[in-house]
Amino acid sequence: MFNMETKKKVILTGMQPTGKLHLGSLLGATNNWQRMIGDYDCLFFLPDQHAITMPHIPAELRKNTLDCVAQYIACGLDPKRCKIFLQSQVIGHAELMWVLACITPIGQLERMTQFKDKSKKVGDSVCAGLLFYPVLMAADILLYNADLVPIGDDQKQHLEITRDIAQKFNGTFSETFILPEPYIGETGARIMALQNPTVKMSKSDSNQNSVVYLVDSDDAICKKIMGATTDSSGEISFDPENKPGIANLLDIYAASTGQSIADSVAEFSHLTSYASFKQSVADAVIAKITPIRTLYQSIAGEKEYLLSVLKDGRQDAQKRASKMISKIYRKIGFLGNL
Ligand code: TYM
Repeated sequence: MFNMETKKKVILTGMQPTGKLHLGSLLGATNNWQRMIGDYDCLFFLPDQHAITMPHIPAELRKNTLDCVAQYIACGLDPKRCKIFLQSQVIGHAELMWVLACITPIGQLERMTQFKDKSKKVGDSVCAGLLFYPVLMAADILLYNADLVPIGDDQKQHLEITRDIAQKFNGTFSETFILPEPYIGETGARIMALQNPTVKMSKSDSNQNSVVYLVDSDDAICKKIMGATTDSSGEISFDPENKPGIANLLDIYAASTGQSIADSVAEFSHLTSYASFKQSVADAVIAKITPIRTLYQSIAGEKEYLLSVLKDGRQDAQKRASKMISKIYRKIGFLGNL
C-alpha cells in the first residue's frame, strides 16, 4: 500500500530484542534494511511480544530492548529517515492477532517448522504463545499493510502463512489486506554457524565460537573466523552442499563487502590454502563491524535519547494502527468505539 503522504511503498520488519546482535542478523537483516531507507516508507520495530514466547528474564528483556534500539541505529537505521518503534507500545498488534487467530486453522500452526523446533527445546512447558507466534507476526505485517518484508531465509514460512491468513480474511470479510512479498537478500540470507556450517548462526548456539557478535573485539572476530570449520580439499568454490564451511565464508565475505558470490569466488579461486582466504574474510568482517560497534558503544548508554526515538516511532505507528484496527473491527462486525 502506498503511503499517501510519501507515495512510497511500505516496508516493515523487525528483530527480537533477545540479546546481542550477531553476524547473521547483521548480514541477513539490518544490512539490507538500511539500504531500503529513502526508497520506501520504512517501519522498523522491535517485536518484544514475540520475545516472551520463550522463557526469559524480565530485567534482561528491558535492557536488551534498549540495546537493540541502539544497535538498529548503529547499523544505519537513522531515526530521522525511518521509524523505529516497540511492538508492546502500540495498541493493535495483539488485538489484530486475536482477530486473525480466529480464522487460522490450528493444524497449520502445529505444522510450522519453528514451532516444532522451539517446542522440542522447551519440552512439556511449551506455551500457547509459541503456537500463536506466526499469527502475531502476521498481525505485525498486516496492521500496516506492508508491501515488502525484508527477512532472512528462516522466516520465509512465516511470510507464507501471513499471506494465507490475509487471503482468508479478504475472502471472508472483503478485500482489506494486500499480500506482502518477502524480500530476501542475494547474499547473507542464511549465515551458518562457524563451527557447524549445517545449522544457522544463532545466539543460542552452545559453542560460542560459532557466533560473531557486533560487540566482539577485532581479535575475537579474527580468531573465530580463522577457526571456522571447513574441509580438507583446499579448493575455494561455492558448493553449499559439499563444502558448507567454505560456502558460508564466501557468503559472509560477499555480504560484508557488497560483492556478488561469483565475484568473491573469482577473487579467491586461485588460492590453494584456506588460511589467507580466512584472513581476508576476517578483515572484511572487521571492516564492516568496526564503525557499527563504535557508534553502538557511543549511544548505548543514552537512555533518554533511545526512549525518545521509540516515542517518536510509536506516535506514527499508533496512528496507522488505530486507523487499521477501526476498519477491521467494522468489517468483522464489532460495534467499534463509542
Ligand atoms: P529474529 O529476531 O530471529 O531475526 C531477525 C532477522 O534476522 C534474520 N536472521 C538471519 N539471517 C541470516 N542468517 C542468520 N543466521 C540469521 N539469523 C537471523 C532473520 O531471518 C530475521 O529477518 N519472527 C521474527 C521477528 C518478527 C518479524 C515480524 C520480522 C516478528 N514480527 C514481522 C518481520 C516482520 C524473528 O524472530 O526474527
